[in-house]
Parts: sequence; structure tokens; C-alpha cells
Amino acid sequence: MGTPGYTPKRAATDPLYGKVASVVPEIEWPVFAPDVAAINALKREKNAVILAHNYMTPEIFHCVADFVGDSLQLAREAAKTNAKIIVQAGVHFMAETSKILCPDKTVLIPDPLAGCSLAASITGADVRLLKQKYPGLPVVTYVNTSADVKAESDVCCTSSNAVAVVEDIAREKGVDTVIMIPDEYLAQNVAKQTDVKVITWKGRCEVHERFTAADIRAFRDAHPGVVVLAHPECPPEVVAAADFAGSTSAMSNYVGKHRPARVVMVTECSMSDNVAVEHPDIEFVRPCNLCPHMKRITLPKILHSLQTLTHEVRVDPEIAARARVSIDRMLAVRPLARLAAA
Ligand code: 13P
Ligand code: SF4
Repeated sequence: MGTPGYTPKRAATDPLYGKVASVVPEIEWPVFAPDVAAINALKREKNAVILAHNYMTPEIFHCVADFVGDSLQLAREAAKTNAKIIVQAGVHFMAETSKILCPDKTVLIPDPLAGCSLAASITGADVRLLKQKYPGLPVVTYVNTSADVKAESDVCCTSSNAVAVVEDIAREKGVDTVIMIPDEYLAQNVAKQTDVKVITWKGRCEVHERFTAADIRAFRDAHPGVVVLAHPECPPEVVAAADFAGSTSAMSNYVGKHRPARVVMVTECSMSDNVAVEHPDIEFVRPCNLCPHMKRITLPKILHSLQTLTHEVRVDPEIAARARVSIDRMLAVRPLARLAAA
């Protein structure tokens, strides 16, 4: 007689449970296991890959994703995959970026309502007005934007390459000022690391704007010796109060390299869970804010997406072609030696 509740599907996924046992309670695994098994089988059958952002929950990040990373890494993976189908476990702008880079592939997003407050803060028409107001200044656009906005831009950037991109385009265009949209805080944080002047837009990440410098002081008081890592979408005073600021992957790499005894990641909640899995000996202090858009992506929706090939992401070919120029230009920018991994 077999163990009660021990189905063949469960048996097939049990080795994967070992990966997430420290962050997924054992009682929850039988709920996840059948979807994990079905998704992994369907991926092989349909020649699909899952690109998962660092903010995905651990059962997605560690058990069904083929590639994980920050926005820049996911864009690079999309550009080079041989799979026929890309399932973007992330938000809509990430799926659009994959589609722009892979126009001949089927790009699916498990929930088309997975948006982003930054992407919602600006339109292509806004960018056209900005260009009229500041003629001759290049537009550097965070990837957290619609294809329409990217199409109006000179170059894209992510949080991991923003300073290098700003300096590269300023040099190429022979200017000392750039327009950087839409994240006001990211732009202000970038401006502190370069001599290039930056004109900002009023976009905010609804997750990171809620952290305050008082929060950081409270973490340090309550958890002596804690190392504070912050995402550059946080307000500048939060970044100034942190020990290190960087993209989601840069924060993860920092933990792997420096192995602090105690750390707090001032960012979205799933980040700490995913990184903690790799470092059971490190204490993660976990105050965090949830991204409601990222959290729309779940195992059942990923499974449904693969079963029905929905929701397919499409981008108008003319807009996609122009947006691609901005993304390709970003992908060609080399990292700055002076900002090499902390
Ligand atoms: P990263 O590129 O650092 O992963 O950031 C993406 C994002 O949406 C953070 O809020
Ligand atoms: Fe957008 Fe902020 Fe969510 Fe990232 S965390 S997807 S920037 S709302």
C-alpha cells in the first residue's frame, strides 16, 4: 500500500520540493505538485520555455522556470532562446519586450492584467510632447514601459545598466543632458552617479515608493548589524540610507558574494524567499511590499496559458520595429568598469 496522498504526479515532483522546502510549507506542496508536474511536461511537449522574473513566488521561480533573472537578463534570454513558445512569468511590459525581440515566436502572458504603475504613468503621446519641449535631447526609457513609449525613445535601460546607458547616449549625441523616463526616483538615483544631467518624469513604482528612510533606521535598530540592500526604484533617501542599491539580480549577487550574516532586501516580497533558498545560513529580515501585478502570475494560470496558448502578446509591427531599435541599442551598451559588481 502506498503512502496516503502520495500520487505518481506528486512522486515526480518530490525532488523539486527539496529545493523550496525552506520557504514552502510541506502542507502546501500537494496543492502545487500536480501543476508543477503538468507544466513541466507541457513545456517539453510544446517546445516552450518559461522566463521568470526574480519577483515570482518560489514554486514558480524554483520549480517551473527555465530562466530566471532581472529585466535585462530576461530580455537577453528571450533574444537567444530557440524555443517556439515563450511564457513570460512576469508583467506585461516584459512579455512585450520578449515579443519585440522575437517577433516570430509565440509569446504568452498567463494574466494580461499583470501591469506596472511605471508603465501606466506615460504614453507615446507624452513622449512626443517631451521631445517637443526639449528638442535635441535623447530620451532614455526604462524598460518598464509600453512598446509605444519605447518606440518614441532613443534607447532603453534597466535598473542594472541605467548609468552606462545614460553616459553612452549622452556621449554619442554630444549632449550633457538626457531625458530619463518614466521613473523619477530611478532617474534621480542615476543622476547621483554620473555627470550627465537628467530630466525626469513623475512615474513611480507603487511597490518601492512606499519605503522610507525611517524604515531603514527601524531595520537597523531592530536587527543590529543588518546589511540593507535597496532597489533603485526606491526614493533617493532610502537608497542613500542603504548599504547597496542595485537591480534585483545585483541584490541577489551581492548576497552570494558578501554572504552577510543578516540582510534585508528593500524590495518586493518574493525576492527574499527566492534568494533565501540558496543561502539557508543567512538570516533574511523580511519586511517587504507585494507587487500586485507580479502576484497575478500563478501556477494554475501558467498551466492554463500553456494548455490554451493564451494570452498571446502581440505588438503592432511598425511600433515593434521602432521599439526594437531602442532595445537593441541598450543590449549593445557595455557595463561600466567603475560600477562593476559590488
Ligand atoms: P529589475 O530589472 O531590477 O529586475 O526590476 C524590474 C522591476 O520591475 C522592479 O520593480
Ligand atoms: Fe512595476 Fe513596481 Fe511591480 Fe516592478 S514592482 S512591476 S516596477 S509596479
